[in-house]
Amino acid sequence: MADKQLVLVLDFGGQYNQLIARRVRECGVYCEVKPCTTPLEKIKELGPIGIIFTGGPASVYAPGSPDVDSGIFSLGVPILGICYGCQLIAKHLGGRVVAATEDSAREYGKTETSFDTSCRLFRGLPEQGITWMSHGDYMEKVPDGFALAARSAACPTVAICDESRGIYGVQFHPEVNHTEHGTDMIHNFLYEACGARGDWTMGDYKNIAINAIREKVGSGKVLLALSGGVDSSVAAALVAEAVGSQLTCVFVDHGLMRLNEGDEVEAAFAKWDINFVRADAEELFLSKLAGVSDPERKRKIIGEEFIRVFEAEAKKIGKVDFLVQGTIYPDVIESGAGNAAVIKSHHNVGGLPDYVDFKEIIEPLRMLFKDEVRQLGRELGLPEYLVMRQPFPGPGLAIRVIGEITKDKLDTLRLADFIFRDEIAKAGLEGSMSQYFAVLTNMRSVGVMGDGRTYDYTLALRSVTTSDFMTADWTRIPYDVLDRVSVRIVNEVPHINRIVYDITSKPPATIEWE
Ligand code: XMP
Repeated sequence: MADKQLVLVLDFGGQYNQLIARRVRECGVYCEVKPCTTPLEKIKELGPIGIIFTGGPASVYAPGSPDVDSGIFSLGVPILGICYGCQLIAKHLGGRVVAATEDSAREYGKTETSFDTSCRLFRGLPEQGITWMSHGDYMEKVPDGFALAARSAACPTVAICDESRGIYGVQFHPEVNHTEHGTDMIHNFLYEACGARGDWTMGDYKNIAINAIREKVGSGKVLLALSGGVDSSVAAALVAEAVGSQLTCVFVDHGLMRLNEGDEVEAAFAKWDINFVRADAEELFLSKLAGVSDPERKRKIIGEEFIRVFEAEAKKIGKVDFLVQGTIYPDVIESGAGNAAVIKSHHNVGGLPDYVDFKEIIEPLRMLFKDEVRQLGRELGLPEYLVMRQPFPGPGLAIRVIGEITKDKLDTLRLADFIFRDEIAKAGLEGSMSQYFAVLTNMRSVGVMGDGRTYDYTLALRSVTTSDFMTADWTRIPYDVLDRVSVRIVNEVPHINRIVYDITSKPPATIEWE
């Protein structure tokens, strides 16, 4: 990206480093995260307009703790140090960092902070606000030539700045949402201190990613398991754009999709010259699932069959060189999180590598957050219904038909779920809920329709609002919308005579019913 301004994020092992990169991109500036060990010569070569030092778990004086070449402070390039990065600035430039004791300046969590708004970093922002702190060490002595720019009740040295050299340090994390105006502070650093022009867009990201894929793949064959979800669809579109006919997308249609979903996915990829394989495996899946009501067994059967069908299709292509996966950044964090208890064994295509013979995995979305993935999808010309698709579990409607699954029950659920989504869209509520769907319970109850008695199924509606899907709140859907959904479903969908709305949050409930 020789023609684009670059901001370098030097990684000292902090947990929010990709979030910093994401904020910089959000501000319209191209950004790369590099290890803190990147040699000074290399940094000079890259020619960044600004450098950000991330946080990190170590203490700056601990033996072997990550460090920088002091020469970096003489490059004349503005620097923003965050948390550990701030302490590193202090250590190098004549300040002093000490371990905070319980009753002095150790801080964790949301902290009321006062800012000096004459400092460029805080220019135009309120003088008081909440910042997110997470530090055990603090700056006892500010480095020579630096002014104090923010303080909290417990810590007088929350932020420092040397405007003449364009060096700034903050003890808090401006990149996390808990810090009020955090993105504005990063914006100020980029535009006020570094002279950013804002010359970077998702279109540029697309071009970089396409070139990188072309370079890596060469004339090799590429295989991708397309689920129809946002991530695998965007990954597929990107690779399709990059290497077209060398790509085979295998879309296992297990018959557990929502209404028209399979056709929509197929239609979205018609414009690319790729080998699109739609494996129609509905009968196979339904026969394997017949009589099974235990949720974990359903998941296991679907996971195994999925791999089997995929593998059979993959074999038909012959030798594959690369397997593409739609891993996005939050998946990377979650899989690193380790030993959380398994509540449900989530099935997705993550298990494939053991079963398919290939040389290397490509994960072109690994650095992106969900909304960036959606933006990239739009950039690639994917239709809005795919780009904005809500999360959908790998086992599909099989875990939304409670108890035994039959084709009739799936069809009933498909129609009811479609009506629910349709009414939510008509009410303009899609953006205010993270995931919403219908569940066909295996409970039947008595009703009256026309003059006759009915004995039919109860359908549950579920909608949650969440940012991470680990915890979730049930959505307060307006009663009149719920009413329209209810009236339409009992009138239009045979075998449903009662609708209930699930008002449990997660925890204690999970989002899906099974
Ligand atoms: P739960 O029900 O565990 O769901 O609160 C959290 C999120 O995960 C989705 N989910 C799945 N996704 N395979 C998937 O790929 C699965 O087996 C699976 N089960 C649940 C769920 O839809 C929600 O977004």
